Amino acid sequence: MDELEKMRLLIDKLNDLAYKYYVLDAPVVSDKEYDALYDELVALEKSTGVTLDNSPTRRVGGEPLKEFASHTHLRRLYSLDKCNSYDELRAWFAKLQNALGYAPACTLEYKLDGLTICLTYRGGKLVTGATRGNGETGEKVTEQVMTVRSVPLTIPYDGEIEVQGEGIMRISALNKYNETAAVPLKNPRNAVAGAIRNLDVRETAKRNLDIIFYNVNYMDGDCKLTQTRQIEFLKNNRFKTGMLFKSDDIEKIIAEIDKVDRASLDFAIDGMVIKVDDCAARAVLGYTDKFPKWAIAFKFEAEETTTELLDVVWQVGKTGKLTPLAILEPVELCGATVKRATLNNYGDIQRKDVTIGSRVFIRRSNDVIPEILGVAQQAEDAREIAKPEICPGCGSEVYEEGAHLFCPNFYGCRPQVIARLVYFCAKECMDIEGVSQKTAEQLYDKLGVREASELYGLTADDLGKIDGFKQKKTENFLAAVQSSKSADLPHFLNALGIDNVGRKTAKDLAEYFGSVDALAAADAETLVKVPDIGEIVAQSITEYFARHSEVVARFKEIGINPVCEKRSGGVFDGLKFVLTGTLPTLSRDEARAKIEAAGGAVMSSVSKLTDIVLAGESAGYKLEKARALGKKIIDETEFLNMLNT
Ligand code: IVH
Repeated sequence: MDELEKMRLLIDKLNDLAYKYYVLDAPVVSDKEYDALYDELVALEKSTGVTLDNSPTRRVGGEPLKEFASHTHLRRLYSLDKCNSYDELRAWFAKLQNALGYAPACTLEYKLDGLTICLTYRGGKLVTGATRGNGETGEKVTEQVMTVRSVPLTIPYDGEIEVQGEGIMRISALNKYNETAAVPLKNPRNAVAGAIRNLDVRETAKRNLDIIFYNVNYMDGDCKLTQTRQIEFLKNNRFKTGMLFKSDDIEKIIAEIDKVDRASLDFAIDGMVIKVDDCAARAVLGYTDKFPKWAIAFKFEAEETTTELLDVVWQVGKTGKLTPLAILEPVELCGATVKRATLNNYGDIQRKDVTIGSRVFIRRSNDVIPEILGVAQQAEDAREIAKPEICPGCGSEVYEEGAHLFCPNFYGCRPQVIARLVYFCAKECMDIEGVSQKTAEQLYDKLGVREASELYGLTADDLGKIDGFKQKKTENFLAAVQSSKSADLPHFLNALGIDNVGRKTAKDLAEYFGSVDALAAADAETLVKVPDIGEIVAQSITEYFARHSEVVARFKEIGINPVCEKRSGGVFDGLKFVLTGTLPTLSRDEARAKIEAAGGAVMSSVSKLTDIVLAGESAGYKLEKARALGKKIIDETEFLNMLNT
């Protein structure tokens, strides 16, 4: 076999493997095997000096481009009409039904929130990738598009064709990128637009983009396929697609839209698209000068908007941590008026280059207080956000630990002490009813309470000085204080208010160590052996006991020193596992249950904290990483043997 033929075979094999991995999401070989074949191809290309058109080595990007050339679409691209309510959607459908004389079957798809990408193929080869531009002419971004691994460089169909899809950056890919990025990406849409419209193609390649296709815009003339057929055609030609549902009953379509849970998707959508399936019906309905009358976008409420950042105030929490709170020009978002947003810490402010007076992007996810994603526009007279040197609650000089600033005034910083008192008494902590923010303020101001253990020395006379503490309430409170002495270890550990230790972690710690003394004596190395505890949490715990051992001692004097049964000493006690690949007999859930029952824990990714990797068939990247880190790797047989010993 000559070298060229060898190259062709290798390329076919590699492209097929990439299709299974990136499009079907069903890898059949490990990354290592893929890499070996890839390296073989690179060597052949070097020795022959030939790189074939569909070679995957073309995907990595070369020298930066000088400028974007323009591309005229084979057929103009239309945009979509939109509606914001089910009633508008019903009205749209009724109009179609009127015009056609029957209820047309419609397809339902996600409205992906990314960047339109059009690909032209000729003779089965990808010839151009382009942005939408003004619909007639866009920018050529062929090399950028080629970095997207799920895009086929060659397809079986060999006529002239233009397919349209949405370039997206998955939320998981974005989060991963932001973990180490000097300047974090603000949102998936900006992330993909910035990556595709980047002249340095190697940068594009780093973003791990994806394109999901939904339209055959041109197929040796106007495309005459129904929407369902278009998706089928795209699938058969190895494009990534996604259609959800088809019905001629608008109520069924609405019910389907209602089921969509945006938060559960790994990509951003800003609505749903409803399209008449049939071509003859489409022809009857026609187009306006902007959009087809046979399709409509049902827009979801925006989760993101911009507004002016008016000020930043620093709040002191129960651990003494200072958190910046952004004060915003009030703005409507998801049906609520947003006036405040979080910024995580000073480093976060710097990374996002947030300044007072600038317009910022804010996003609301679920019900939590909105987050500032980045700056939309810097104001000319923008003011830098100063890094506080003193605590806003008490004026003490703050100190830095990791990414955060802390107030050291444990007993004298009013907001800090009050927050700690309220937290200590909460239901999921010591469950002492009646200590609201207001009561805690009076405990601090009128009775001089500076620390939770002092609650146990309060008398009815003392409490008489606090507003609202009549006889009954006082009795109840004193009784609640007394009975809290028998709180169990998980509740007590939670009540201490250690930074980064919440209810779940407190329970894990209690079951692992069995007593406060054992926990206090543990070093970071021991702590990270506890399931779900990483280095940051471990550090918070050791810091707490190093600084505040006297707190625990005082509780002991009062008689609060709960212990609990340690979780059984299983064979995997304290070991952290990662599962990868398909095991011959056990499902993932079964393997996980066995590990946990034996005292081990399962982590999602391989890191230095991993102890054992349980690998099955077609294990991929995780296995490679485990090897690179020199981790213990076992198969199912070995795993079962270990369990039985
Ligand atoms: S179809 C003739 N389908 O939305 C209809 N567009 O507002 C052509 N988009 O420019 C578009 N998801 O970038 C269609 N499932 C989907 C879509 C979708 C996202 C974008 C696309 C288009 C814009 C129109």
